[in-house]
Amino acid sequence: MDSETSGGTAEIIRFPKEILDFSWKVAISTPEESYRLGFSVCERFNLSNPQNMMKRLYVKPGRLSLGTVAVVCLVGLMAGRSTAEDAKKKLVVGFSQVGAESQWRTANTESIKSEAAKRGIDLRFSDAQQKEENQIKAIRSFIAQGVDVIAFSPVVETGFEPVLQEAKKAGIPVVLSDRAVKVSDPSLYVSFIGSDFIEEGRRAANEVAKLTGGKAKIAELVGTVGSAPAIDRKKGFEEVLTKYPDMKIIMSQSGDFTRAKGKEVMEAFLKAPNAKDINVLFAHNDDMALGAIQAMEEAGIKPGTDIKIVSIDGVHGAFEAMKDGKLNVTVECNPLLGPQLFDLIEKVANKQEVPKRVVTQEGVYEQAQAAAELPNRKY
Ligand code: AHR
Repeated sequence: MDSETSGGTAEIIRFPKEILDFSWKVAISTPEESYRLGFSVCERFNLSNPQNMMKRLYVKPGRLSLGTVAVVCLVGLMAGRSTAEDAKKKLVVGFSQVGAESQWRTANTESIKSEAAKRGIDLRFSDAQQKEENQIKAIRSFIAQGVDVIAFSPVVETGFEPVLQEAKKAGIPVVLSDRAVKVSDPSLYVSFIGSDFIEEGRRAANEVAKLTGGKAKIAELVGTVGSAPAIDRKKGFEEVLTKYPDMKIIMSQSGDFTRAKGKEVMEAFLKAPNAKDINVLFAHNDDMALGAIQAMEEAGIKPGTDIKIVSIDGVHGAFEAMKDGKLNVTVECNPLLGPQLFDLIEKVANKQEVPKRVVTQEGVYEQAQAAAELPNRKY
């Protein structure tokens, strides 16, 4: 390797002689042009303190060989061109995630990130830590960044209308992932992909009826207050209860979709004066059910036997618990939305027609299936 060494610039410019010769022929020779292009080389290759280095390059031009300038220019030209091409090609997507409250959410985040990486999408990912105000801030920042498409999984259903209007004004299409919003103007989002939470609630109640012969005193662990899955799962569950006069919810409280809160609320349920009546726990997600199982065991109650447990999601931990006889049923809610979500987003970015609603296909798993199914579970 030939090297060009002059006044500290050699750190970037060590090229074989043929490249130096060739580059010199095609390089732009004005110092201004070279400065600009050279600067972009530094930025592109992440070189430390590019400003200083380029200053040195031109403050003392005598210390610089012609070959060095040529290569800086050439590489700068190439870097400039490929950056422009990348910028043209790369789809920029802002995604605001609910948080990391459950195993389901972790799997959902992973699916979205890995799919974006696979497709070469520039994903600007933001974790709202289960706070609506953080999501609104994130969406505003995506608008300011001028992303091509905004996607988000809303923590709660209401309160997003103003920021969605801002996105619409900026001409940035919005895709909802996993959870819905309540807005008076449906044109504020282009499409919504996710589960049918009402149906999940219905399925859970039907499983409770099967497990108990229609006689159930139910403790209910509700998801995050105001969130679409908490509202809809409850709605679907209660709809089915109307067909079973001997199935009643006797306690109901939010466990915010987390294992820790699920445990805490279950402990409180078990201290209630009518705790002995509980023969079923309906948890709006597996994580809260897993927390509740811990609370039951600590209280000397056999989960899955003394109290039957039906929950929603179908995460790995739930299958383990079913295999151990501690959980009875999990109603599947698929978090692996990445591929379908980005199919939609790419279509939206290309101004193609997309369905307003895409419902993901899901199943129900009972204890007897757990051991056989466990190795096939992907989340
Ligand atoms: O919105 C989907 C729900 O959110 C999942 O059931 C739950 O585990 C998650 O936190």
